[in-house]
Amino acid sequence: MKLDFVIFGGVGDLSLRKLLPSLYYLYRDGNMPSEFRISCVSRAAKSHEEFIGLVKSKLKEFVGDDFDEVVYADFANNLIYKKVDLSSDEDWVGLADCLNIQADTDREIIYYLSVPPTMFAPVCEQIKSLELNPSFSRLVVEKPLGEDVKSAQEINDLLSRTFDEKQIFRIDHYLGKPALQKILEIRNNYPALERRWNKDHIKRVNITVSEKVGVEGRVEFLDRAGVLRDMVQNHLMQILSLVAMDLPDEMQADLIRDQKVAAVKRLSVIDETNVNQLTVKGQYIAGELDGGSVPGYLDEIKMKNESAAGTGETFVAIKAYIENDRWQNVPFYLRTGKRLSERKAEVEIILENDQKLFIEIQPEIRFRNLSHINDLQINEKLVADDIRVPEAYEFLIHQIIKGDQTYFVRDDEIMASWKWIDAVRAGWATTNQQIENYKAGSNGPTLD
Ligand code: BG6
Repeated sequence: MKLDFVIFGGVGDLSLRKLLPSLYYLYRDGNMPSEFRISCVSRAAKSHEEFIGLVKSKLKEFVGDDFDEVVYADFANNLIYKKVDLSSDEDWVGLADCLNIQADTDREIIYYLSVPPTMFAPVCEQIKSLELNPSFSRLVVEKPLGEDVKSAQEINDLLSRTFDEKQIFRIDHYLGKPALQKILEIRNNYPALERRWNKDHIKRVNITVSEKVGVEGRVEFLDRAGVLRDMVQNHLMQILSLVAMDLPDEMQADLIRDQKVAAVKRLSVIDETNVNQLTVKGQYIAGELDGGSVPGYLDEIKMKNESAAGTGETFVAIKAYIENDRWQNVPFYLRTGKRLSERKAEVEIILENDQKLFIEIQPEIRFRNLSHINDLQINEKLVADDIRVPEAYEFLIHQIIKGDQTYFVRDDEIMASWKWIDAVRAGWATTNQQIENYKAGSNGPTLD
C-alpha cells in the first residue's frame, strides 16, 4: 500500500510539535505503509534544505532521546515541502501535479487540515474543483469545530460538499488517550461488570479534567470560548459518552458511534429554568500554585492582551442527568478548570454502598478498585511501566491510516453535543448567571 500524507499548515506548531513526531514514531516502529510521502504544505517560500533542517531540529526537541540519526535520514527521504498560497490557483495546480491522482489509484491520500477553520472552505473547494477527492482520500480536521450549533452545521455542510462522512476524521485528542479506549474494551470484555454498569449499582459519576495551566498564549480564543466550549463540548463529552453509552451488538465503528450519540441525545436539557441549580462557572483570581504565586485571570489578560473582555469562564461544573433506563436519576458531575491544584483527568464512579472506582486518564493510566464492583481481577495498570505510551496523535494518525473511524467524532455526534451546550449558554445569558471567583491553586467552586 502507498500513502500520500498531506499536511496543510505543514510547518505550523501542531505539525512540528505533534504530527511529524507521531509520523516519525509510526515509521520507526514499522507502522507506516511500505511507500509513503509526507507533503508539508505552507505558504512561505522555503528551500528543501531549510525545511528538512527545521523538521530535524524540531524532531530532536520533541522526541528527545528517541531521535535516531539513521531512522531520521530514511524518514526524511519521504518528506516534501510544498509552497501553496491557498488563494493561488497556480500553486494548487502545482500541488495537484505533485499528487498526480490519476496516475495511481492504488493508494491512500490523507489531507490533514492543521489550519484554522476559516481556511477549511478554500482548501475543500480547491480539492473539489481539482478532483483531488477520490474515494481513497481522507480528510482530517480538529477543534474548534464551530462555536455553536449553527457554525458547527456550517462546517459539517462545507466538509460534506467535498467528502463523504466515511472519509472524514474529526479529531478529539482525548479519544487518543489510552484510558478512553480501555473503557470500551473493559466494558465489552467483562459482561459481569457491564451487568452492573447502571443505576442499580452506581449512584453517581464524577468526570473531572483539572489543569494547572492558565490561559497560556490563547487569551482571545479562551476568553471568547470559555472552558464550556473549549473542554466540555468535546473532551468531557467524549468521556461521558464512552462511560454512559449502551454497548452495541458488535464493536464496529458506526455501531459504537450510534450508541455514543444516543447517550448524548439523552442528556436532559439544562436551560434557563434549571441552569442556576445545575451549573456553576468560575474564573481564577491570584493565588498560589506549586509554591509560587500566580496572577489572576484578569491580570493575565491585562498583561497579554488588552482587547479580551475578560468574561470567559475558566472553570465550570455541571450536574447532568441522562434520561434512559440505564441512568435514570444518576447524576453525572462534569468538572473542568484551569489553574487548579493538580493536573488530573479521571472518572470516579460511586457505587450504592459508597465504594469508589476510578478510571484514571492522566497523569496515571489505570483503573482502580474495579474489584469493588464484581471481584474482578482486572489489571489496575493499563499500560506496563516499560512501554512507551504513544502520544494521542500517534494513535489517532495510525487509526486514520488504517481507516478505522471508531475514535473519531461523527457529524451527528458533534451536533448533539453543541445542541446541549448551546442551551446551557442560553440559560446563562437569560439568567445572567454570575461567574464565581476561585483562587488559583484551589479546587474551584463547588456544586451540590
Ligand atoms: C485542548 C484545550 O483541547 O485541551 C486546552 O484547547 C487544554 O485549553 C487541552 O489545555 C488539554 O489537553 P491535555 O491533553 O493536556 O489534557
